[in-house]
Amino acid sequence: MKNPRWKLTLIALGLASCGLQAMPQISLSTADTQTATTKDTLVLLVAENSLQHHPQLNDVTVQKIVQQEKFTGKNGKKLEILAPMLGYSRLLLLGTGDTTKLTQADITELGADIGAYLAKSNAEKVRVDTTVLKDASASAWLAQGVELRSYRFDKYKTKAKEDKNQQVELVVRDINASQKALSQAQAINQGVFLARDLVNEPAAEIYPESFAAEALALKKLGVKVEVLDEAAMEKLGMGAILAVGKGSKRPPRMVIAHWQNSKQAPLAMVGKGITFDTGGYNLKTDAASIVRMTSDMAGAAAVLGTIKALALQKAEVNVVGVMALAENMISDRAMLPGDIVKSASGLTIQVNNTDAEGRLVLADGLWYAREKYKPRAMIDIATLTGAKVGALGSYYAGLFSEHEAVVQQLTAAGEKVEEEVWRLPLNSKFADEMKSDLADLSNTGKTAGASSAAWFLQQFTGNTPWAHIDIAGNALANSDKGVHVTGGTGFGVRLLTEWTLTQP
Ligand code: BES
Ligand code: MN
Ligand code: ZN
Repeated sequence: MKNPRWKLTLIALGLASCGLQAMPQISLSTADTQTATTKDTLVLLVAENSLQHHPQLNDVTVQKIVQQEKFTGKNGKKLEILAPMLGYSRLLLLGTGDTTKLTQADITELGADIGAYLAKSNAEKVRVDTTVLKDASASAWLAQGVELRSYRFDKYKTKAKEDKNQQVELVVRDINASQKALSQAQAINQGVFLARDLVNEPAAEIYPESFAAEALALKKLGVKVEVLDEAAMEKLGMGAILAVGKGSKRPPRMVIAHWQNSKQAPLAMVGKGITFDTGGYNLKTDAASIVRMTSDMAGAAAVLGTIKALALQKAEVNVVGVMALAENMISDRAMLPGDIVKSASGLTIQVNNTDAEGRLVLADGLWYAREKYKPRAMIDIATLTGAKVGALGSYYAGLFSEHEAVVQQLTAAGEKVEEEVWRLPLNSKFADEMKSDLADLSNTGKTAGASSAAWFLQQFTGNTPWAHIDIAGNALANSDKGVHVTGGTGFGVRLLTEWTLTQP
């Protein structure tokens, strides 16, 4: 039967563009090509105790204000002043502390500060002098932060805010050197925005088939996209994902998006794509928790966003993304607590709790990725457990792996892009937690919720070097902060893209 909501899906296609109306236009210039108008704002990055390096700060009035406000350029300190004496409307000073100590993450955060400033400001044009930053890529990291913080998802607001058409001109040392890094950063941001859009869309709009349609839209970028329907999954014996999806009239899908632009063996990424998690018969009864489950496909969204980011920059890599999509619902056809399902790997699983559904869909997704693609490494990413939120909160993602190289790579990549991971234990000591009286495995552990879930997943990974990233708590931001605005964060896109691009 055709899904009655299919029409709506088509309208929703091309999601990524809808959040971007407020996006400032970013351009590059060098110090000698500048032309300011009195309506413009000038932003200076000011290193600590080096105010004398900026000719604008020699102006007597500016000097007085700076002294009065005790602005010395300490990292994180800001000072905004009216600046007609400089030929600008306003001057915004951003303290950077010691510029030699600034990391990529720090610079992206500075950009986010500028993005937050733009959102409140009516400035049409903002010139940001980034020449104090030595690295040609640094202005791109800054621009990335500006854009990430400028993202809006307001397609359901009928009183849409007018487009401010803001322009950001980055003054750099060498346009050519910075341009490449800027294009790359903007490609990555497009991937982040796709992931955010997918998370922000309500479950009525994003369900397995409509998510699959968003993946199919990447074909125009040269991505190979394949969608496995129930019949195809049945044939492969994917009893675990089929069990999760069978309670919904919106059927499950396994979506494969393959960006193949290198002869190397592929890297695989597997995402949990529960388009809504009611808990099933083990119903989520807390109102504040259940409403957040529109974000339970954030892992799959991060995978698709990563594939888009890589395709847009035509990265010379071979990466396959597998998205295990299902809606976890209650109905007369839904799986019941105690049911036993057979996964594609052959392992049988007793469903002791229908709310531990993510690991079920991932079991078949991991198996498929490893059997079909024989990846040289495999990462899964999932809003998997509340226990992870209890252990680490919502800044760090949980990292579980017995492959030290992958652990180190992901930790380093996370620090760089400020999507940090923190390792939690995973080893055979958790096997006892997941024993079932009737089947090979139970889908619930007894105590260590996050680690036992990771151990469960490990049973489906064979000998493939693999890591599991639990992003429960990371997928949704409660407030505007740093590079995030309230709602979907797109967490994982920058992490997985960085990891991919730095693979040996
Ligand atoms: N999607 C949830 C996990 C989750 C919780 C994500 C909070 C984001 C924020 C997952 O499917 C779930 O319900 N896990 C259960 C597992 C339990 C029944 C073994 C949990 O963590 O409570
Ligand atoms: Mn659940
Ligand atoms: Zn879930």
